Amino acid sequence: MTLRIGFIGCGLIGRSHATKLQEPVNAGDAEIVSAFDLDGERAKIFCDEFGPALASSAEQVVAESDAVYVATWTAAHPELVAMVADAGKPVFCEKPLGVDLETARRMVDAVEKTGVINQVGLVLRNSSSFRWLHHQVASGANGQPMSMMFRDDQYIPTQGLYGSTWRGDVNLAGSGTLLEHSIHDLDLIDWVMGPIERVSCHTRNHHSIDGIEDQATVILESASGAICTLSSTWHDILSRPGHRYIEVFCQDGYLALDGEWHGPMFRDMTGETRTTVEQGQAAIDTAAALDGLGTNPDAAFVNAVLEGRPAYPDFRIALRAHELCDAAYRSAEMNGTPTDV
Ligand SMILES: NC(=O)c1ccc[n+]([C@@H]2O[C@H](COP(=O)([O-])OP(=O)(O)OC[C@H]3O[C@@H](n4cnc5c(N)ncnc54)[C@H](O)[C@@H]3O)[C@@H](O)[C@H]2O)c1
Repeated sequence: MTLRIGFIGCGLIGRSHATKLQEPVNAGDAEIVSAFDLDGERAKIFCDEFGPALASSAEQVVAESDAVYVATWTAAHPELVAMVADAGKPVFCEKPLGVDLETARRMVDAVEKTGVINQVGLVLRNSSSFRWLHHQVASGANGQPMSMMFRDDQYIPTQGLYGSTWRGDVNLAGSGTLLEHSIHDLDLIDWVMGPIERVSCHTRNHHSIDGIEDQATVILESASGAICTLSSTWHDILSRPGHRYIEVFCQDGYLALDGEWHGPMFRDMTGETRTTVEQGQAAIDTAAALDGLGTNPDAAFVNAVLEGRPAYPDFRIALRAHELCDAAYRSAEMNGTPTDV
């Protein structure tokens, strides 16, 4: 069977998903048949490249498709997700789900009430690096987890390859680097080291863009006793479009990632005298052998829809990340007071 896919939003991330949808899936075929963007020129370029018919409205995309991607700026997600869910069709929505926690809750209700298959763009759950790290910690092979240092930096994405003015508009983005970018990181920290029980956070706004923080530093306390720190920075260093560097200390093992998709990943164990390094294809193969998940989140979505089973990661997983983010912002408003999640 061929799954007919529609796109609402034909910008940077829409194009990225469309590109990944060109790769083979297991359960059948997928074809992008319909696309719409408020920016007609963008939509036309997308249609010329990926082949769908140019639609004149979001409603038309929903009517013409079996499953729909919502890849617009964040503030537009809720209404469009509701439209797709009300039509009873599977939906892939970009992260963050909405501009705040309450909106995210309503969106989870919308997909769960209608029972549509749903997936969120927390795509780093599919990365080889983070699956390796999750496995290393969860297996217990490295002993008791003690700490994580998670550094995420990118140039402020109102410029350069992102070039999105909406990321500087609090009404469209919701807030700055913690919600718009590091909601990925909050999800990953909770997945690898969690559950996180308490956070404390400070934010700064060096660029003086109203409501858009460009530095967030968060301390996250895990139920296991581990303490994690996240530093999320939006700077102006145009040679750094985005990079994640993570170190984990367990009692008997040191783990590190220098890069978010395929490493390199480093491991030092008690009694070893040299660092083990995995990267590139070796990293992909290692991660694939751990859980059988592919590294293509879009193929995973198509396979789930064609096989009629739940997709992963779903909106409820994203809601948990929104809860962490909301607790961090509440803490920042109280000058870093520890806040329960
Ligand atoms: N998963 C990831 O790693 C990742 C990476 C980048 C962006 N994102 C998320 O994806 C979303 C889009 O980001 P982007 O970088 O592609 O932005 P972008 O500016 O490149 O594209 C967004 C597009 O949405 C269109 N749009 C807005 N409202 C619309 C509506 N109601 N109907 C139709 N089109 C509409 C705009 O015209 C624009 O072309 C954001 O929520 C962002 O946070 C996720």
